[in-house]
Amino acid sequence: MKHIDISEILVGQELLGQEVVVCGWVRTFRESAQVAFLELADGTSFRKLQVVLDKGKLNVDPECTKLGAAVAVSGEVVKAYKGDGNELNARAVTLLGKCPPEYPIQKKRTTLDFLRTIPHLRLRTNTFAAVFRVRSVAAQAIHRYFHEHGYYYINAPLITASDCEGAGEMFRVTTQPWNASYKTEEEYYKNDFFGVKAGLSVSGQLEGEVAATAFGKIYTFGPSFRAENSNTTRHLAEFWHVEPEIAFAELPDVLEIAEDMLKYLIHAVLEECPDEIAFFDSFVEKGLREKLLHVEGSKFAVCTYTEAIDLLKPHNESFQFPVSWGCDLQSEHEKYLTEQVFRRPVFVTDYPKEIKSFYMKQNADGKTVAAADLLVPGIGEIIGGSEREADYEKLLAAMKERGMNLDAYKQYLDLRLFGSVPHGGFGLGFERFVMYCTGIENIRDVTLFPRSVKNIM
Ligand code: 4AD
Ligand code: MG
Repeated sequence: MKHIDISEILVGQELLGQEVVVCGWVRTFRESAQVAFLELADGTSFRKLQVVLDKGKLNVDPECTKLGAAVAVSGEVVKAYKGDGNELNARAVTLLGKCPPEYPIQKKRTTLDFLRTIPHLRLRTNTFAAVFRVRSVAAQAIHRYFHEHGYYYINAPLITASDCEGAGEMFRVTTQPWNASYKTEEEYYKNDFFGVKAGLSVSGQLEGEVAATAFGKIYTFGPSFRAENSNTTRHLAEFWHVEPEIAFAELPDVLEIAEDMLKYLIHAVLEECPDEIAFFDSFVEKGLREKLLHVEGSKFAVCTYTEAIDLLKPHNESFQFPVSWGCDLQSEHEKYLTEQVFRRPVFVTDYPKEIKSFYMKQNADGKTVAAADLLVPGIGEIIGGSEREADYEKLLAAMKERGMNLDAYKQYLDLRLFGSVPHGGFGLGFERFVMYCTGIENIRDVTLFPRSVKNIM
């Protein structure tokens, strides 16, 4: 259909006085004796177009004025009667799709909890229009950032036989039903599609390392799958994962890149989504814009795991899980560090090797690995990264300690035999980043169709 985007009509002089056609969904309708006003949204702008209907001249089908109805309007673009920008004086309104009163998006009932029960319609609200605009702009900015900095964009496989994080959280991929006649697991998988146990990838990192040790700088940006049985506001079974991997990089380089990338993304969102950020600032997280500006303009804090434990210990009585050296940091500890102690994003580095993955570079102290998690206020961990162990023997020893199936990692080990170099990278949880930029507190509300335990609507 020939029509013009609402975003083009709302501002500027070019279309003033011209006759145009717009298409959209009715967001509000109000009327007085002589005139009526339709607010139309078509997704091209967070702002709505006001359509003015002169009741004396126009006989509008009442179906065209119903909340949620889809209409096409032709009319003249004029300066808005009130405020900045332009509006449309309607000449004709055509119904494209009517919307009966059962339409569940009504002003009174739009809590996020309720909207989660109608994932196919909730996108038609202001909140979701703003969330998904930010998400889209951030995704574009990720590609732009890495492209501008000389990275290859690679696509790691989603079906894999190796478990990157080694935490046993993989979904299985199979074509055969369980058959009790198999005596061993191995025999069972031999008959399966791939002939071995296969699953959905929890991370593209291992393949990312393969590419980085050929191309230097690479990134992946795709879905990762985790069968974590954690029903929290920050975990999904399917999330989008940004994973750069950089050759000739040590841990400080990884931190520098992570910080630079994050600031670039925040800058892009602030620049490209001013209306959306203003909306979140008013209705979701007061002071959001200030927060983002502050983060963009200040250096992230850095502290070692050991320092973090020393900072947390004096407050042990206030934690559900008191800390001691060697323990994993729980969400309450991450929040305390970033919200009470540092009050800004903080990298926590050099964790005990027992609580981190096999592939991380072993530090000289024999106790810690060159890992770095970035914690942010309100969310906790948003990035997990490390320098990788580049020494064949040390990596092999770490894998044996964990009882890993070495056959499945032969290629990964080969990278340490043939021209091994220091390298590292990190993973940014894309949904957690969108939460951070919007103030939205539940990860299910920044995801089109969230998948989590017992939920695949
Ligand atoms: O810390 P993680 O597990 O690290 C890795 O997967 C590494 N292979 C990354 C790398 O070095 N290339 O995951 C990285 C990030 C987390 O910090 C978090 O933001 C996000 O991915 N994440 C999740 N997001 C939503 N739902 C889940 N279940 C997530 N698990 C991890
Ligand atoms: Mg992590």
